[in-house]
Amino acid sequence: MRVDIQPVETWASRVADLWTSRLLDQPTLRMCLATGATPVPVYAEMGRRVAAGAVSFARATVFVLDEWLGLPPGHEVRCDSMLQRDLLAHVDLDPGRVHTFDVDDGDPAAECRTYDAAIRDGGLDLAILGLGRNGHLGMNEPGTVFDAPTRIVELAEETRLGAARYGELATSPTHGVTVGLGPIGDAAEVWLLVRGAEKAGILSRVLEGPVGPDIPATRLRLHPRGLVLADADAVSS
Ligand code: F6R
Repeated sequence: MRVDIQPVETWASRVADLWTSRLLDQPTLRMCLATGATPVPVYAEMGRRVAAGAVSFARATVFVLDEWLGLPPGHEVRCDSMLQRDLLAHVDLDPGRVHTFDVDDGDPAAECRTYDAAIRDGGLDLAILGLGRNGHLGMNEPGTVFDAPTRIVELAEETRLGAARYGELATSPTHGVTVGLGPIGDAAEVWLLVRGAEKAGILSRVLEGPVGPDIPATRLRLHPRGLVLADADAVSS
């Protein structure tokens, strides 16, 4: 695993530079993408680059990383809604190449098995992740074994309550579905995006604490092409 630290002002363009170069090298890139606050400036920058003709997502494939259970289609806190708003609406991805969890038809466990198989059929070239305040990756909460498949999860309280950061909620979801640490760890390359001083405490544990399920993000330390892309605030003490 490598760690790349950038000034706050240039962090998003640095990540976008790396991502652009991956897409130019391999236009058919198969990616798993997080939602949430962290990647928003990167997604906005990629939208600008697509508009400028500097890069294209047209032949790429995207899997959304996770989804809450119990929120209606189109809800602003849904991961599929956030990815649509923050990235997909601004890039030239063919909607047929975007995989989202179909959690509205009654059998999310079966959907997880189908989703896992779709990822493994071709694998992932790149996973772009954010860091939970408790060290989670996707919705792989503390205690998750490193070979966990895509599945239904019970959310940690911190994650549950944190959902309200993304929009209005009558009640916070208690469960979600997530791409597992297994398929994430099998991706050819895994990037962990981290920005802001609020992540400094957990990031230092990811980088320097014991590797194991207590902090799922420590899985990256075992990945030959794991890359932490942090801004300077996230590594301040
Ligand atoms: C979202 C996701 C989560 C977030 C993490 C950090 O798809 O998988 O693991 O990446 O909770 O969230 P933010 O970026 O909002 O601090």
